Amino acid sequence: NTFVVIMAGGVGTRFWPFSRTNFPKQFHDVLGTGKTLLQQTAGRFQQICPETNIYVVTSAEYKELVTEQLPFLGPDQILLEPSRRNTAPCVAYACFKIASKNPDANIVVAPADHIILQEDIFQDTIRIGLGATRMESILVTLGIQPNRPDTGYGYIQYVPDKKMVKKVKTFTEKPHLDLAIQFIESGEFVWNAGIFIWSASTFKAALKKTMPDTYDLFEEGNEFYYTDSESMFLTRAYAQCKNISIDNGIMEKADNVYVILSDFGWSDLGTWKSLYEVSEKDSNENVTTGTLLLHDTKNCIIKTPQDKLVVINGLEGFIVAEYDGVLLICKKDDEQKVKEFVAEAKYVD
Ligand code: GDD
Ligand code: MG
Repeated sequence: NTFVVIMAGGVGTRFWPFSRTNFPKQFHDVLGTGKTLLQQTAGRFQQICPETNIYVVTSAEYKELVTEQLPFLGPDQILLEPSRRNTAPCVAYACFKIASKNPDANIVVAPADHIILQEDIFQDTIRIGLGATRMESILVTLGIQPNRPDTGYGYIQYVPDKKMVKKVKTFTEKPHLDLAIQFIESGEFVWNAGIFIWSASTFKAALKKTMPDTYDLFEEGNEFYYTDSESMFLTRAYAQCKNISIDNGIMEKADNVYVILSDFGWSDLGTWKSLYEVSEKDSNENVTTGTLLLHDTKNCIIKTPQDKLVVINGLEGFIVAEYDGVLLICKKDDEQKVKEFVAEAKYVD
């Protein structure tokens, strides 16, 4: 009764111009391995449960991309959202739909765009979580040892006992920098990996408590899931439901959250710098793909099309990225501004 829900509807703005509204990063082979991030994610979970129990939730506009990249998915396993409402509705929809046929389902929820270097350790960790949520009515998260006060993550403070699955004291989604610095200095926090494990019934109870309106909406869907009326029901439900992340909507508020401290070579690949960090570098600390002639160039991440010769002289600490008609040249340290550039560029988002 193990199920996996892969969330694959985000746009990945901070990874622009590579990640685009019509072709977000999860559908790219970001690492040059021959597999897209979505394919790698699905592959990881094929060891955990049968293929028929893997569901992907995404925007209706990415239906073809998902179908092409994961041909093993049946039509019922691709959940198409009529609009973007962030991850709380996305997870609610998937968990309710699965529960409507499998009330005792045990569910892993995971983002489509992470890299995980040590898959065997990852799978062991997931199995520990699944064991725990089968026994107890708890919401399990995976915690990653932090190394900087990054404001792009959720922060988890836990009871420091010897147990494998530790009780969470506080969950703070994307804190301001000063708070993130305090968290890191205290040594009591880990990052939320954004991967969750729970039984369908525990999830439903938590949603009912923290977001009763959303609970009611998706509970009404029980007569529509797996029928021809599902998409009509969804359009109505999505027009009414709140736009909020699972972290803000449920995890910060629930009181039965637990964490497994994890170490499996995790990276969220949220930004150019995170790609830089996990990639192999040349002797000048550059990370490159493209046809390049580099002189006196250090510490850069350069990703340009193979069919264009790019010559660079005297550049240090920059992102140079060209994709589909857009060229970005930006200081690596200013990468948080990429979001603003996308807003400014509008029609080439
Ligand atoms: N289907 C669907 N619909 N998927 C979505 C939507 C949506 O509206 N919005 C986002 N997603 C997908 C993204 O594609 C991604 O795979 C996943 O949900 C998480 O969304 P992000 O937007 O990437 O979240 P985040 O990175 O800012 O924050 C989350 O992940 C961090 C770790 O990477 C949070 O869980 C943080 O607490 C966590 O630290
Ligand atoms: Mg993310």
